[in-house]
Amino acid sequence: MNEYDSDYLGQVLVSSNYLPTDNPKQADVILINTCTVRAKAAQKALSLLGRMVPLKKRNPELILGITGCLAQQEGSSLMQRFPDLDLVLGTREKERFESFLKRISTSREKIVAIDMDGPLVSPLPNNGYFKGRVKSFISVMEGCNNFCSYCIVPYVRGREVSRPPKEILEEIRHLVSQGTREITLLGQNVNSYKWDKTYGFSSLLKEVNKIEDLARIRFTTSHPKDLSDDLINIFAELDNLCPHIHLPFQSGSNKILRLMNRRYSRERYIDLIGRLRQVRPEIAITSDVMVGFPKESDEDFQMTLDLIKKIEFDNLYSFKYSDRKGTSAEKMEGKVDDSKKSSRLETLQRLQKDITLGKNRMLEGTRMEVLVEGYGKRNGQLTGRTASNKVVNFSCNNNVIGNLIDVKIQHAAVNSLQGILTNMNH
Ligand code: 5AD
Ligand code: SF4
Repeated sequence: MNEYDSDYLGQVLVSSNYLPTDNPKQADVILINTCTVRAKAAQKALSLLGRMVPLKKRNPELILGITGCLAQQEGSSLMQRFPDLDLVLGTREKERFESFLKRISTSREKIVAIDMDGPLVSPLPNNGYFKGRVKSFISVMEGCNNFCSYCIVPYVRGREVSRPPKEILEEIRHLVSQGTREITLLGQNVNSYKWDKTYGFSSLLKEVNKIEDLARIRFTTSHPKDLSDDLINIFAELDNLCPHIHLPFQSGSNKILRLMNRRYSRERYIDLIGRLRQVRPEIAITSDVMVGFPKESDEDFQMTLDLIKKIEFDNLYSFKYSDRKGTSAEKMEGKVDDSKKSSRLETLQRLQKDITLGKNRMLEGTRMEVLVEGYGKRNGQLTGRTASNKVVNFSCNNNVIGNLIDVKIQHAAVNSLQGILTNMNH
């Protein structure tokens, strides 16, 4: 979602006649888009901001701003802590960015804008910004009403708001006209997208599936409690919907899931995965999990490991629990030591690494359809992804970026597959 938001703000800058640069020393505007979902993300953003401050001494004209969830959360206190900041732009204030830029550059005003009643932004007129982008993201809803006890999102992104389907479909058609072949529909809780009583997320997916020249559809992130039968069945129905779902489980212990206010049990989660696999046997399952939530005992942690072994995820994003200001978990008793969190995380990641590698090795010798996204890290190599979202690198002399091609997998590693081109499809 931050990438999507950054692109919106990037377009505003381009239409205000700014040009992009890779070198912060040359920049006239630096706007740092932040995340605050975990303590580490917030620390990284602040340390980047700290490194940008000296540039202001060299170029007093520089406009230095911060946006995103951390800006929303901290508001004017950031201005006090970093007096060189010119702009603190909240998550629902993006529409006013252009006017703020003008005000700052003409009168050097300092602006803190963190109102949450503002609208979701509408797409800007075509200025060629997205030309040649094979894979794009699009927000279809924002905010969250779930209040999982550890999570800052409902406080910094507000309540759930869905965008009108007509606008979403138009935006996707525009992206496709610029070269997009794959779209990921985004929302903090995307499967609770709802336009009216009869038009929900499945209705939207069905319409997106009809868009000509769009080859692949993905969506993220789903909440297990809102994964309806309707949505599960749609995996068998829509030919462009990729066989992959990211379905965070957070913990394998029912006691911890209750404390997290997740409103499903491990049994229900296992059942959902079973049904998804029944409907689309090749479906890849990825997830998020946390270790060291308050009161997590060794037994609770073992339940998490056990769930990982039972499900055999294709990939897992795993984190140490960190306190977020204002959440109910922050005030809970029974906090877990950092060293215990670290050792649990290491154990968990070692287990998952073996599972991921084992699954990837099963693909050796098979042919996979790959959407080519761009150049790989190694010379002469191209890179893309399978429909199940696995990275594939391969050598090819032709420029097949943006094409769907067949690749024979020769070698599997944990993070990527290596293959050779066998067939150009379309
Ligand atoms: N501490 C650690 N991890 C967190 N996440 C969300 N909040 C926290 C927190 N306070 C993780 C969850 C979520 C992912 C985006 O970040 O696993 O799914
Ligand atoms: Fe946070 Fe996701 Fe829970 Fe919403 S559903 S509160 S975004 S973890």
